[in-house]
Amino acid sequence: MAGPISLKRRYSLLLSSACLGLLVVYYMYSAGEITVPSFVAGGRESLQDVDAKLKSGAAALTLPAEYSTTNAQKCELFFTPSYLQHIATHQLPYCEAQSSSAFHCFTAPRLSIPLTEGWGETDPLCVAQGVSFHPGRAGADRDFHLQCKLRDLVTERARFPEAAKELEGFRDKPTDWGWYWGDTGVGASLNTWNFEDPGDVTGCTRENINHSDWVILMRRDSTDTHNLWHKLMEILQARHSLDALRIAINPATGLPWLSEQDAAGVQLIFDDDREELLEPLWEIVTGGKPIRKSSLQQPTCFGNVILPLPGCGSPFWSNLLDTGHPEQCLSQTLLTTFVHRVFEFYGIAPRPVTEIHKHPTITIVERKENRKFIAVDHWTASLKERWPDSPINVVDFASITIEEQIKLAQSTDILVGHHGAAMAHIIFMSPGTTAVEILPRNFDQHGFRSIAAMRGITYIAGRGLYEEEYENAVNSKPLPQNWPPPPPQGFNHWQNQEWTYMTDKYILNLIDSAVISQKNRLGSSNL
Ligand SMILES: *[C@@H]1O[C@H](CO)[C@@H](O)[C@H](O)[C@H]1NC(C)=O
Repeated sequence: MAGPISLKRRYSLLLSSACLGLLVVYYMYSAGEITVPSFVAGGRESLQDVDAKLKSGAAALTLPAEYSTTNAQKCELFFTPSYLQHIATHQLPYCEAQSSSAFHCFTAPRLSIPLTEGWGETDPLCVAQGVSFHPGRAGADRDFHLQCKLRDLVTERARFPEAAKELEGFRDKPTDWGWYWGDTGVGASLNTWNFEDPGDVTGCTRENINHSDWVILMRRDSTDTHNLWHKLMEILQARHSLDALRIAINPATGLPWLSEQDAAGVQLIFDDDREELLEPLWEIVTGGKPIRKSSLQQPTCFGNVILPLPGCGSPFWSNLLDTGHPEQCLSQTLLTTFVHRVFEFYGIAPRPVTEIHKHPTITIVERKENRKFIAVDHWTASLKERWPDSPINVVDFASITIEEQIKLAQSTDILVGHHGAAMAHIIFMSPGTTAVEILPRNFDQHGFRSIAAMRGITYIAGRGLYEEEYENAVNSKPLPQNWPPPPPQGFNHWQNQEWTYMTDKYILNLIDSAVISQKNRLGSSNL
């Protein structure tokens, strides 16, 4: 046997240096184009072994370190299905095993930036099983009841340091989870929950429940009810919550938490009675129409209640506020999947990337209340002179439906607007087109620059002027003494500014560059 073994050894040496060549040889062999020399003992069978080794070997070998960068790992974790896999594999039961209800949480990773202080490092997604709902039970402000004796995680962490790693990212008690913007998130939802109900909720236990009965209890952001970006992110995270449960294994059953069949029947319940922006779009979370908690009049035993991820914990929030890193994240499965789900809901076929307009369509987002462009009529007239064949739209997005807004974004080649929620439409533009965002004079935010990069949209930023600077530039009015003034305080100082000041030359230069670049997409015959 010595001969064949040493030959095999030689063979494996050969493998590591000439994998590709061998594969070719093997396939030629399989195709009957070559015959195997007799020294390869065992002939065809051992070549199959070789093939298996080739496959496992290639996966185990590592490339030089420069191929893997921390940034690429961050991009992968936050913007691809790895984000959902991470949630699915970070789970913890909160109730003692003998409890008749169950409360099980998952954590999503989140980048910590100053704005997210107080939320901790992770975002919670929880599932409660055996939840009895008693609307307006006398004298009680809590309408959801569980019989859950909470584990003592403080003691567990201290006594079992080796288990502490698994508890990382989980709060000691579910009610410890932070309240997110607009009183959202698991912590805020649990405000109306009673964990150790002493009352009569017998019968509503995790053993007795209908395992196919799933609801998602949605606590929506109460402050920004008509902000496109906030609302999109809320819907996105609710949907991510369901998708993560589809791939998470329930340790009690060894099966996915949410089967494909059960997923089709999940009922979305709003905690509030508000009519918000994007009301119909919530259907893309479950596939069905949401109902409101206030419509539930009867005491009910819910089998499974999902408390979803908070919208503002979305990877497209904190990451995008972080300058630098996401601008290098180019492959964005999560964002594109969501965009296509929205298109599908509205029955919009994405514009083919080959559809390039000879005369680029320019759409200027006009605001009626604040941050109004100081001379938009004049700029439009100049653009019509400069680019007479280009369709030019000046649109107050608040005056058209969301569906019309998305269709307009799809047909637009150059979208011009001031920083604000309407610029979220960048995600609905066709890859290869251009966004021109005007930033406030004293406010830096890279969010839309980053999502533009992710969607393959060319991004051009301009910046407004202070009124004094504009007067100085346009009317030669001297600048006040001690110019420039100290930077304004507060995060939202710019939001209610009435006007956005820019000189004609400045804004027209920005748009001209965009037009010229778009026209060159079609090649020299278009000039
Ligand atoms: C269990 O719940 C599902 C989904 O709500 C429902 O379709 C089914 O009829 C229920 N089964 C029983 C036995 O109540």
